Amino acid sequence: MESALTARDRVGVQDFVLLENFTSEAAFIENLRKRFKENLIYTYIGSVLVSVNPYKDLEIYTKNHMERYRGVNFYEVSPHIYAVADNSYRSMRTERKDQCILISGESGAGKTEASKKILQYYAFTCPASEQVQTIKDRLLQSNPVLEAFGNAKTLRNDNSSRFGKYMDIQFDFKGAPVGGHIINYLLEKSRVVHQNHGERNFHIFYQLIEGGEEDLLRALGLERNPQQYQYLVKGNCPKVSSINDRSDWKMVRKALTVIGFNEDEELLNIIASVLHLGNVQYGGEEGNVCITSDTQIKYLARLLGVNGAVLTEALTHKKIIAKGEELMSPLNLEQASSARDALSKAVYGRTFTWLVNKINASLTYTDDSHKNYSVIGLLDIYGFEVFQHNSFEQFCINYCNEKLQQLFIELTLKSEQEEYEAEGITWEPEKFKGIISILDEECLRPGDASDLTFLEKLEDTVGGHAHFVTLKYCLAVDWLVVPDCKPLNICPVRFLDKNNDLLFRNLKEVMCMSENKILNQCFDREELSDKKRPETAATQFKASLAKLMEILMSKEPSYIRCIKPNDSKQAGRFDEVLIRHQVKYLGLMENLRVRRAGFAYRRRYEVFLQRYKSLCPDTWPNWQGKLADGVATLVKHLGYKPEEYKLGRSKIFIRFPKTLFATEEALETRKHSLATKLQAGWRGYSQKSKYQKLRTSAIAIQAWWRGILARRRAQRRRQAADTIRRFIKGFIYRHRERCPENEYFLDYVRYSFLMKLHRNLPKNVLDKSWPTPPAALAEASEHLRKLCMQNMVWSYCKKISPEWKHQMEQKMIASELFKDKKDNYPQSVPKLFVSTRLSTTFFLLQQMSCETCTVPVTKYDRKGYKARPRQLLLTANSAVIIEETKLKQRIDYGALKGISVSSLSDGLFVLHVSSDDNKQKGDVVLQSDHVIETLTKIAICSDKINSININQGSITFTVGQGKEGIIDFTPGSELLVAKAKNGHLSVVSLLNLPHSQSDGFSKLKAEM
Ligand SMILES: Nc1ncnc2c1ncn2[C@@H]1O[C@H](COP(=O)(O)OP(=O)(O)OP(=O)(O)O)[C@@H](O)[C@H]1O
Ligand SMILES: [Mg+2]
Repeated sequence: MESALTARDRVGVQDFVLLENFTSEAAFIENLRKRFKENLIYTYIGSVLVSVNPYKDLEIYTKNHMERYRGVNFYEVSPHIYAVADNSYRSMRTERKDQCILISGESGAGKTEASKKILQYYAFTCPASEQVQTIKDRLLQSNPVLEAFGNAKTLRNDNSSRFGKYMDIQFDFKGAPVGGHIINYLLEKSRVVHQNHGERNFHIFYQLIEGGEEDLLRALGLERNPQQYQYLVKGNCPKVSSINDRSDWKMVRKALTVIGFNEDEELLNIIASVLHLGNVQYGGEEGNVCITSDTQIKYLARLLGVNGAVLTEALTHKKIIAKGEELMSPLNLEQASSARDALSKAVYGRTFTWLVNKINASLTYTDDSHKNYSVIGLLDIYGFEVFQHNSFEQFCINYCNEKLQQLFIELTLKSEQEEYEAEGITWEPEKFKGIISILDEECLRPGDASDLTFLEKLEDTVGGHAHFVTLKYCLAVDWLVVPDCKPLNICPVRFLDKNNDLLFRNLKEVMCMSENKILNQCFDREELSDKKRPETAATQFKASLAKLMEILMSKEPSYIRCIKPNDSKQAGRFDEVLIRHQVKYLGLMENLRVRRAGFAYRRRYEVFLQRYKSLCPDTWPNWQGKLADGVATLVKHLGYKPEEYKLGRSKIFIRFPKTLFATEEALETRKHSLATKLQAGWRGYSQKSKYQKLRTSAIAIQAWWRGILARRRAQRRRQAADTIRRFIKGFIYRHRERCPENEYFLDYVRYSFLMKLHRNLPKNVLDKSWPTPPAALAEASEHLRKLCMQNMVWSYCKKISPEWKHQMEQKMIASELFKDKKDNYPQSVPKLFVSTRLSTTFFLLQQMSCETCTVPVTKYDRKGYKARPRQLLLTANSAVIIEETKLKQRIDYGALKGISVSSLSDGLFVLHVSSDDNKQKGDVVLQSDHVIETLTKIAICSDKINSININQGSITFTVGQGKEGIIDFTPGSELLVAKAKNGHLSVVSLLNLPHSQSDGFSKLKAEM
């Protein structure tokens, strides 16, 4: 409830106890009104729930709402019927004390709806097993059945309960509903035969007629028209807009199945038979009454399972026993109609009781061997009602309500007193106006009296009472039930009849013979032998009420006080006069005054401390000492004045609501700072836990990954060790024949050799590198090497151009001729041979070199060895010496005897010409800078490869006419060609000429 005090929820006060002006009825009603306008239909007076009928469906009974109220402290949530239900349930479970919930209020105030809501709440929130589910279903389904048979449309309520109902719900030790028991109180049987204008008979009749299948109606001899039945036409109200008889019929049939009902046929026969009974018409003369509608009797005989003739006689005669003799005395018309109606009422009334018993049987807790169940009782009695003319029924109904009201006042007063005593607080009771005593039961005593004598008796007994006035002329009594209440006009006409509730003996006898299973049980033969006069209805009712009071007194009560906001069943209409009347009648102001007699607000220490501890630094966040001390510290800190509160043994009592409101305001302000702190704390906590989660996840992943890595490493190490071991073993056994011990090693050696070879194959033909093979592969290696070389050579050859081939052939010849024979041969190797070495000045000669070869040379005269520049032209047949364009000398190859050259690194060479050729003037001494190339070409052109002489020291040559010349070759530091003193040609050849790499050579190498 404290939460209700927050500004957000505050529409009026949620507990009347907190009303500042608690004695003002206007303030009380204003609070009700404010809340009602906001659809807040529930308000507390302490622990009593006041409920105003909204006359519309509010979204406050959902499963979510049920969840919200489940197990929550009564005061922590806004007022609701579920809070009362939950509170009773929890008290029952924790204190193991039986509970009861008393629902009261006038007709149409919402009692039955409230009891259904409570039942639904238990069905939803209580633990359930499969067996319990069946009981839950049956408990819920008992309502539509009982409402169909026991409720009717009245002027006050379209679904008015015309019987009282007290239902016990039994719970086992686990708190699951395991059974139930219903006690019904005084059904308004007179409704079966008569209804006031605008009212209806019990719903079941209309449901059967509207909803029953064609076949069924035919079998029952019924028509689908309620206007056909005398018992349904009195109120002239066959249809009600708020009721759908057809769908209700289906619901009732379904409910009967759930309850485990298998006497459908019999039950329907009875309902139909009542309708037929109503249509039984009497005719004939006075003293000789007969039934004019034969067909009705036929149907009745079949439906009731009795003999038609016997029934007819019983409906028209009365059995009189005179002097031990049985006589049949004919009835007059009025008596016969009464007898018929009495039978209808008896049949219907007893069937209703039978139905309740049947439901009880289906709700019986089977395992009640130890009776160890607890009970919550739900009392939904017919509501107080005031009509224009109030009859016996209203008298009984209102009597019952009076009794309950007395009980309520007694119990609330008692509990209030008890609480103060228990808490050790002095009790100063409020002067409390009592309820006037009810009419003495004397007036209901059976006797030989008429309604008039009864009225006189009433006058004799309570005539002196201030609220009792007799109006004899119209046979009425004005009887005020509650002071200041509007008068209840009771008309005692047919009081005695109704009270006696007599059924003629012969009718009883007929019914005892019924073959209808239900009626057979309803009309007991033993009843016939019982000569005692049956108890009057009022006496029975009074006795059953007394029993009910006993039952209720033995239980812990909770109260729901229902209020009806208007008489027109309209949503949103708040009829203040009507409500004031009910507030008075229900004694709500008295209730509030009793509750507020001392202290407006009381709470157990722990609850109070828990709620407000944040307002005092000493009690926040937790109070370690005794609760009472904690509360004392807290209220001291809050500045409560001594007269504002009292501390009991386990509760604090606060006198004025304003004190509590101030505290609540302080809490509201404090909540903001607390909320910020809580938020921060929570955020920190959630971030921390998020981080922790991440961290543990990361650690888990790391560990997992490390594990994988370690396992992999271990496996690799194992494999490596295995390999090494195999290797070592293989190495040890390497010289043996191939065997398991060494095969791996040998294979590996081979494999690794081949792999090494694969990676290091010679790149070109000049590359002679080759890995050393293991012994086992020596032969294969050799094969491979050769293959590789062949392959390289082959691919080299494939790529070679004709020019290059020609070049290489020339180079080969040069090699054969000069390699290791002439010193400057190595320098010539890298230099490519070209077709001409003439400069561009010799353009013509250059042109000729496509077929021939042209080379600049120095010619030395034969006599003075004078050096003269010349060009040597090698044609197909001769070597031609040219001086610029002048042909100086032609040497046919046929005349060429040989060619001499020194072994040193000079460029001199001699062409030996045959002396036979007269055209020649002797041998020719020439010098070329490209001596190797020139000589090779001359040798090739002239085909004189074998005629090249490489001389050491000197060359002798023919000068002509038999004379000889000598060329001396000496090594020196500078190339020098000169005529020596001895007449020889002296040639100083260069020593150790540096190797020069030329482009041609590198190209050559690359090509290889
Ligand atoms: N909580 C509620 N929400 C919506 N409608 C309600 C509620 N309570 C009652 N009503 C409406 O009011 C009508 C009368 O209610 P209900 O039958 O419970 O009255 P009652 O107190 O049992 O009357 P009686 O004494 O005649 O049996 C219901 O049929 C329903 O239409
Ligand atoms: Mg009701």
